[in-house]
Amino acid sequence: MQNKLFIKDKKLKTEILIKKNYIYKFIKNIAKKNEKVFCVLDAKIKIDLDFDKQNNIKIISIQCGEKVKTFNGYKELAERLIKNNINRKSVIIAIGGGTLGDLAGFVASTLLRGLDFFLIPTTLLSQVDSSIGGKNGINTIYGKNLLGTFYQPKGVLIDISVLKSLPKKEVISGYAEIIKHALIKDYAFFCWLEEKTNKLLNLNKSTLERAIYRSIMIKLNYVIKDQKEFLLNKNSRAMLNFGHTIGHAIENHYKYKKFNHGEAISIGMITEAKISNYLGLLSSNDLNKIITHFKKYRLKIYDKILSDKKFVNILTKDKKNFNNNINFSLIDKIGSSIFYKKLDKDQVYKILQKI
Ligand SMILES: NC(=O)c1ccc[n+]([C@@H]2O[C@H](COP(=O)([O-])OP(=O)(O)OC[C@H]3O[C@@H](n4cnc5c(N)ncnc54)[C@H](O)[C@@H]3O)[C@@H](O)[C@H]2O)c1
Ligand SMILES: [Zn+2]
Repeated sequence: MQNKLFIKDKKLKTEILIKKNYIYKFIKNIAKKNEKVFCVLDAKIKIDLDFDKQNNIKIISIQCGEKVKTFNGYKELAERLIKNNINRKSVIIAIGGGTLGDLAGFVASTLLRGLDFFLIPTTLLSQVDSSIGGKNGINTIYGKNLLGTFYQPKGVLIDISVLKSLPKKEVISGYAEIIKHALIKDYAFFCWLEEKTNKLLNLNKSTLERAIYRSIMIKLNYVIKDQKEFLLNKNSRAMLNFGHTIGHAIENHYKYKKFNHGEAISIGMITEAKISNYLGLLSSNDLNKIITHFKKYRLKIYDKILSDKKFVNILTKDKKNFNNNINFSLIDKIGSSIFYKKLDKDQVYKILQKI
């Protein structure tokens, strides 16, 4: 497996490195090249970051989870950095899951009008998805990720050794984004996963690295072609939102408490696959294959809120939707997605009652 990826696009300049037991060295190397380094660390991560003699590295530890992606989380982190004399020559390194990465990226893109930043994702979900592509931001009471920027990290280090301490529930959450990438783009990858998922969920090194690599390549393919989600065709970055129209609404409804992100989008993917089948786009054979796979690996597939009248109102608040229409990125077979299907709110309500 290729263990170093360089992505160079006119706008996108991120170096992605997949390397085991490399976090300490990665930070040290950045510290050698920069005046001051602020490591923002998820408090749950136990790694050796004892940079005694290197006084240009400051560690800021914070409690993470969805609750940190708020106005308050933004204010606290930004003010802590300012209080510690962050300046234009400083860089930020976020070491944590997707919530920390999204928050720190947003802070980095706005603090002093933008500072260089690096990501060291520590959950499977953040290694296969959220650390790639430069989307970051925070939630508001009206919905998820409603405040944010597109801002690419300078570098991303994927180090699977950090996943050892990750609870199984979070490993499965990350797997949800991996299977999403297969479902929207790569039938062969889906078949490979059908064989390898057990190994992957048990953190087998080579299986994990291959799955992470493949996932990143699928995501990058969309990001490079459509960094800011402008395209209106099959190459649109919006394809990565498969399962997310429903998933984000579920997360929002339960105030991010009942389900983690992967669980919510798992329910979202199955529901959107059913919508796709209902509309005659996805065959029942493919739908059943997907459901069987999800059940086998204990990915969530349903929640009672789906048939509740108020659920469609939450759906219309998604940033992709307006005029009572709801946009879905659907799949028309395993490994192939189709651009937004605009459905009327009442139509969605009716479909949700039937599936
Ligand atoms: N920016 C993007 O493109 C993008 C893409 C997908 C998801 N996301 C966002 O990512 C977020 C979800 O990310 P997540 O699943 O990483 O959640 P998370 O950051 O909340 O991490 C999950 C839990 O694991 C803990 N944790 C992190 N690393 C650990 C480790 N190595 N060992 C033990 N515990 C650890 C965290 O403290 C947290 O309790 C959501 O907010 C979602 O919207 C963003
Ligand atoms: Zn997601």
